[in-house]
Amino acid sequence: MSSNETYHNHHPVLLEESVDYLITDSSGIYIDATLGGGGHSRLILSHLDQKAQLLGIDQDDEALAAAHKRIGTDKRFSTIKGNFGYLRRLISPEMHGNVSGILLDLGVSTHQITSAERGFTFQKEGPLDMRMGNLQGITAYQVVNEYSYKKLRDVIYHLGEERLSRQIAHKIIDLRPIKTTTKLRDAVEEVVKGQYQIKSVARVFQAIRIEVNSELEMLRNVLEQALELLAINGRIVAISYQSLEDRIVKHFFRTGNHEGKIKKDFYGHPLNPIEEISGGIVRPSEDEISQNPAARSAKMRVAQKIKDPEA
Ligand SMILES: C[S@@+](CC[C@H](N)C(=O)[O-])C[C@H]1O[C@@H](n2cnc3c(N)ncnc32)[C@H](O)[C@@H]1O
Repeated sequence: MSSNETYHNHHPVLLEESVDYLITDSSGIYIDATLGGGGHSRLILSHLDQKAQLLGIDQDDEALAAAHKRIGTDKRFSTIKGNFGYLRRLISPEMHGNVSGILLDLGVSTHQITSAERGFTFQKEGPLDMRMGNLQGITAYQVVNEYSYKKLRDVIYHLGEERLSRQIAHKIIDLRPIKTTTKLRDAVEEVVKGQYQIKSVARVFQAIRIEVNSELEMLRNVLEQALELLAINGRIVAISYQSLEDRIVKHFFRTGNHEGKIKKDFYGHPLNPIEEISGGIVRPSEDEISQNPAARSAKMRVAQKIKDPEA
């Protein structure tokens, strides 16, 4: 199957719901910061008029090519290759403060996860790569084979929320060098037995992927920068697929900072520049999950900018 075909196998998650929340002005400027195969972007464009603009960002060349193919020529649509953690730099200064909506559909696409040679999946043999783009410095091979015991244990514990992190880190170190996804899976399976084995494997792979791509740091960066780029009343729609990401989004949407505490002025008035408008998490319907099991873990939150952060 060609790369573009597998991209088009990716079912956009919470498609109608996210686009309904995102668009408040049909002539506005929008950013799809996780373009992937362009599933969300295509629907966004269908709701916009000819004066609008949509910028699609992805760090993965294959995603950008697939999105272009899916959307075709449309003068309102352009793409930027880059990491959304540096959003401010990717977007031209005249757009700062004028953006109506930013979409973050986090994590990896079906295409990335199912391509054995990208190294994300433990279901197929592949190299330990796991880079979403070719912009980052480290690969999964380096995390698995070069990190100290303590660093590896902490990655598995904090980013995978895996209870047996100490034992797994020791086993990985004993079995070095580990060169492939299946060998890494075997290492975890030597430690964890029984019905939770597969969950532990998934948690270790998740942890290493998050580490390789600095996913939590990039998410914190993009949320702060999104706030600067948005116009007043502009919206951020964030779809996350694991609890660490959702926690970061939740705190930021409630307070406008990463400490998760609402700052108050001298008189005790809240100073939060942003407020959550989705009333907590929006989840996919049972119908969507039955058609696309990958949507099961999705959690969407939506926030609206109410004032400039420094005001
Ligand atoms: C879940 S997919 C998006 C799918 C897309 N909404 C669609 O419907 O086709 C996430 C995409 O975001 C990209 N991505 C993840 N983190 C990124 C980052 N920090 N900077 C740029 N792109 C990122 C991935 O490469 C992937 O293509």
